[in-house]
Amino acid sequence: MSSHGPITARPRIAVAGATGRVGAALVGGLAYDAVDIVALSRRGSSSRLPVGTNIVEIDFDRPASLLDALTGTERLFLAHGTSDQQVGNEIAMIDAAVAAGVSHIVKLSAMGPPTRLHPFDWHMRVEAHLAEQAIGYTVLRPSCFVDVLARAKEPVSKGTWGGTAGAGRVNLIDTRDVADVARIALLDGQFLTSQRAYHLTGPKAVSMPDIADELSSLVHRPVPYAHRTPEEHRDVLIASGTGEMVADLLLGLDRIFLEGVLAETTTTVAELTGREARSTSRWLHDNISGFVSSSGSLAV
Ligand SMILES: NC(=O)c1ccc[n+]([C@@H]2O[C@H](COP(=O)([O-])OP(=O)(O)OC[C@H]3O[C@@H](n4cnc5c(N)ncnc54)[C@H](OP(=O)(O)O)[C@@H]3O)[C@@H](O)[C@H]2O)c1
Repeated sequence: MSSHGPITARPRIAVAGATGRVGAALVGGLAYDAVDIVALSRRGSSSRLPVGTNIVEIDFDRPASLLDALTGTERLFLAHGTSDQQVGNEIAMIDAAVAAGVSHIVKLSAMGPPTRLHPFDWHMRVEAHLAEQAIGYTVLRPSCFVDVLARAKEPVSKGTWGGTAGAGRVNLIDTRDVADVARIALLDGQFLTSQRAYHLTGPKAVSMPDIADELSSLVHRPVPYAHRTPEEHRDVLIASGTGEMVADLLLGLDRIFLEGVLAETTTTVAELTGREARSTSRWLHDNISGFVSSSGSLAV
């Protein structure tokens, strides 16, 4: 791993996707650093950002708005919600960053194999575009976010939780750890022109039955995980109001879990932050109230 030298000036850091899960945690984490933060958003305000955050409105349909927003910016964090507009929007943002003279981009990507599955193929396309630019960058490739389990809150509380992941294992990562690594990569003043990728995971892989056992002990009643076929699970998802694209994304994720494709453990979070990555157990413990009465973010 690289050493991370202190920054010497007060750089301007733009955060695209600042109102999202990773972006909001990142803005909070950077608040005490000697940097000027600009939150880029399609909206002029957000309750997810600290009061007083400098929010600059952007419009992906107007590339000039991206260039204006990035002028004078030294480093860019680039995250984008899962959407079929993601590739076009991220490429537009990268092009604007290059044109604006940004020196380093930290791009939120995803860990996983080359595949046709969304969003992995989208990230491959954006990464390929980034690779063609003469710009420093850090690609963050986290495994699956642990808050995908927020989707299980209502089904668990109703006793209908299930899926097609079987006893396959996945190493889930806490989005706060992704944000912590993003902050370190953005503040790295020593290797601004470096082009690198970090593979980020939690401390160990778990299976859905492991999670069911953990939930059972936290809610003091048996929590079942129903093993379904992909067809059965798709029907359940659609019947519960999940859209077609998200249902397919979730089935793709379950397949990846079943096959242990994201079961790898890396020590990158610990090496960069100097402390252990947060565990799935900790996330379940912190969020257990939602598994009793349903609530929570449903972003993929
Ligand atoms: N979920 C996982 O398990 C996982 C694992 C690895 C990697 N990832 C990657 O992480 C990224 C998502 O990060 P996140 O969870 O922090 O983001 P998020 O909360 O889903 O969304 C981030 C922000 O993207 C902005 N955005 C701009 N255009 C958008 C559009 N057309 N549709 C949706 N959002 C749009 C929105 O901000 P404004 O509304 O303010 O403009 C939104 O708040 C994705 O690229 C995903 O592939 C996810």
